[in-house]
Amino acid sequence: MTAIYPPDFRRSVWSLRRIKSDPLAFLEDLAGSPDDDIVPFSLAGRPAFLLKHPAAVEAVLVSQHDKFVKSYGLQRVRRLLGNGLLTAEGDAHRRQRNVVQPAFHRQALERYGEIMVRHAARARDRWQPHQTVEVSAEAGALTLAIVGETLFGADIESLSVEVRQALMVASDALDPLISLLAPARRVRPQRERLAAVIDDLIVRHQRSGGDRENLISLLLASQEAGPHTITDQTRDDALTVLLAGHDTIATALVWTWILLAQHPEAGARIEQEVDALLGSRLASSADVPALVFTRAVLSESLRLRPPAWVVARSATADLELGGIRIPAGSIVLISQYLMHRDRRFYSNPMAFDPDRWLDDRQAGRRKMAYFPFGAGPRSCIGEGFAWMEGVLLLATFAQRWRLKLMDLGEPIRPRPTITLRPPPGVRMVLHERAPL
Ligand code: HEM
Repeated sequence: MTAIYPPDFRRSVWSLRRIKSDPLAFLEDLAGSPDDDIVPFSLAGRPAFLLKHPAAVEAVLVSQHDKFVKSYGLQRVRRLLGNGLLTAEGDAHRRQRNVVQPAFHRQALERYGEIMVRHAARARDRWQPHQTVEVSAEAGALTLAIVGETLFGADIESLSVEVRQALMVASDALDPLISLLAPARRVRPQRERLAAVIDDLIVRHQRSGGDRENLISLLLASQEAGPHTITDQTRDDALTVLLAGHDTIATALVWTWILLAQHPEAGARIEQEVDALLGSRLASSADVPALVFTRAVLSESLRLRPPAWVVARSATADLELGGIRIPAGSIVLISQYLMHRDRRFYSNPMAFDPDRWLDDRQAGRRKMAYFPFGAGPRSCIGEGFAWMEGVLLLATFAQRWRLKLMDLGEPIRPRPTITLRPPPGVRMVLHERAPL
């Protein structure tokens, strides 16, 4: 039988203040009964639906994607990133995605592997035994340097503090859930600082003769105005990739180190894998397929702590999902955080169990019950980049270090902002492994 909107307002008792103070609890509370696949509610006075079944996720992101836009919830993000790849819609999006796609082709990724490992090995060899490291800062600086060299052809380590500070301030204002509810806070100063960084990178590229093939050369070559100027489109796309391409993967790396410290038996298995495959030589992109357990650990980390934790869309047409009518103008929410811990699709969902990605449980799982990188035409363009980087970085650090958590005196709870971050100030102590 078809259930028809109006939504069940009893589920909307959360005040904005409560949602802001604990968005994950809001989502969990809203999710209600495990058997409800679609939960109607009201958000900012608009009809809204939380979709909890993989078939509905597939419909929104893939088979019926043309009935949805991102625009409503992304107004704030647009203030920071302009009309770049993450925020553009329709034809503009398709055109820009085609322009930058070559920077993410397989042959390009293979070249990036060497750069990723070189940066990781340099960071690894700067560390000292028993040193305490603020892991988010370390991982953020490292992944920014990697995006800088691979996609921008630039050494941006010196800009790291500037970029990371602007990003941190801005991203606290960019929680995708709160963006749907509250008026935009000012992010203009951050936008201006970051745009200046981008302009500087582009000018450096132009002065160098601009002959190196990378993201900047692709963007400049696509400008109708010619390659010697900087259009808003190029600036917005470059800024989007700089931010989307380092903060997400840094967050994933930090969560993985935390989970490994909490599950040392998994850390020991990564060490066995890298010792047997690499010994003391540097890893390369050719090693990635053989780092099977390391990848399973990363998969499990992205399941339990997905950096992209909720996706919002607005319906542009009436449609029906799972027997429920979704009127045009509705907001739909789909949440990696909720889906990845749904016991209908994962046995013992709260357990950290990398083996679930290696045994036959993997084959039996519904396709869209796991979507850390989204899906369909708006899926993450950097997915292949991220898998390669995550696996190579974990392996390179595991060759030398075991990271142990400093006791914070309280559980490490995820902090939902634009990404699902660990709490600030998580510190880890470095224990050196005996040389092979
Ligand atoms: C663990 C790491 C990463 C995660 C979890 C992640 C997740 C995502 C997700 C879920 C989306 C889709 C958002 C939506 O549907 O609204 C997305 C889009 C995007 N990501 Fe990633 N990402 C990661 C790494 C990267 C990297 C390394 C890059 C670039 C080097 C990147 C660049 C982008 C861009 C440009 C988009 C917009 C694509 C479009 O709309 O066409 N991401 N990412």
